[in-house]
Amino acid sequence: TSATLGLYGLGTMGSALSLNILEKGFALHVTNREVGMIGDFVREAQAEGLGDRLHPADTLQDMVAAMPAPRAIILLIPSGKPVEDTIDLLAPMLAPGDTIIDAGNSDFRDTRRRTRQMEDRGLTYIGMGVSGGENGARHGPSMMVGGSPQAWGGIRDVIEAIAAKFDGSPCADHLGPDGAGHFIKTVHNGIEYADMQLIAEVYGLLRYGAGRDPASIGETFERWNTGRLDSYLVEITGEILQATDTETGKPAVDVILDSAGQKGTGRWTAIEAIRMGHSANLVEAAVAARAWSTDTAARRAGAAIFDEPRRPVDLTEDELEAALVIGRIVSYAQGFRILSAAAAEFDWQIDYARTAEVWRAGCIIRSALLDDIATAFREDLPEGELIFAPTLASIMKDALPHLRKVVCAAHTGGHAIPALASALGFLDTMRTERGTTDLIQAQRDFFGYHGFVRMDGRENQHGPWWDVA
Ligand code: 6PG
Repeated sequence: TSATLGLYGLGTMGSALSLNILEKGFALHVTNREVGMIGDFVREAQAEGLGDRLHPADTLQDMVAAMPAPRAIILLIPSGKPVEDTIDLLAPMLAPGDTIIDAGNSDFRDTRRRTRQMEDRGLTYIGMGVSGGENGARHGPSMMVGGSPQAWGGIRDVIEAIAAKFDGSPCADHLGPDGAGHFIKTVHNGIEYADMQLIAEVYGLLRYGAGRDPASIGETFERWNTGRLDSYLVEITGEILQATDTETGKPAVDVILDSAGQKGTGRWTAIEAIRMGHSANLVEAAVAARAWSTDTAARRAGAAIFDEPRRPVDLTEDELEAALVIGRIVSYAQGFRILSAAAAEFDWQIDYARTAEVWRAGCIIRSALLDDIATAFREDLPEGELIFAPTLASIMKDALPHLRKVVCAAHTGGHAIPALASALGFLDTMRTERGTTDLIQAQRDFFGYHGFVRMDGRENQHGPWWDVA
């Protein structure tokens, strides 16, 4: 790159990404709001033999002043107000031709607005989704870039150098303008939420339905990770379930309060889907499950009032594996449905096959299935639906009876499986030629004279309930 590189924000992600950049041979200026962390980072870089090309500064102002123009400054700070305040501070220090890269989990609407504001000042703005946690940032994250093609041209060599590789191809690309990169990262996180929830539900059925202990379930996930479910999340689940708490000697999962946190990206995905007249119901289920989980006192009361015990379920590992595979395909497919709705609304040309490829390595949702999905996008998609792509549809046709059996058994046994049940609800809807929204339309017309379309195509028709006798 011709630009001088700078990075602001030496927290976990920023430090790891900085070491990655230095390791790939680029010079890097760094600074941090809290000055103490700068020295710590310099020592860390030196310890790894990466201190030579590192230029630390005590303040953002000093860093910018030390950087010859044109500059490209990566921000790795919490989204929302911290990013807003930093841009307010940074923009006046920069000159036309300089670039700001927001590499956090920002709301894509903020990114769209900031892109316009920065371009008005002659600056270049990039909203870049970065996935893969600390390890990814250090050794190769997946990166979803949003911005102008010129902006991408200016940073492409660095981004491709530090990205994860899949068969030698970098898992980073320019996927659209302004907010597109952050939107795609948001949807990635929505899929991440859904996949995590599906895995947790299958764990629950093995644990509380089949009465297995965490370590043995961990072995099952470890085995699944060598087959169709090959993925980062299944891999770490296998490892987590086999881990022991050092303090008590109990399985590590058993000492953790079952109350899930969330920072917002899963919720944004569900909200955007609904706002656009869609529904990613697996993401909704995952967000709901996390939200409900935090009502620990209410759940304790509920357990006492509705004291029906959770009953054993009789399901094979193969059936559960199939349910997880099909649930995972549906959650990816729902993610891509939202991407295409957003692409239409915001006039983005998103390459879906390329998006799936960018997710094949480095990110949290990386999985063997994404390679099949990338291929599926390059084949004929009946009605534009990923779930109807021949390769995926054939996997799903085999798996559907197993998903059905798992959902029935779980419900009969009183096990909460909101995501698995949502996948089945979606699939059964999508394979029902004549559903029951005729009745919904009749009800709307009955109480509100809303009108309906008759089967013969005539619009704005009303039912006999409006005929005056
Ligand atoms: C990733 C992760 C990362 C982060 C999310 C998790 O792709 O590397 O998604 O961005 O872990 O913020 O979100 P929650 O805290 O909402 O689970």
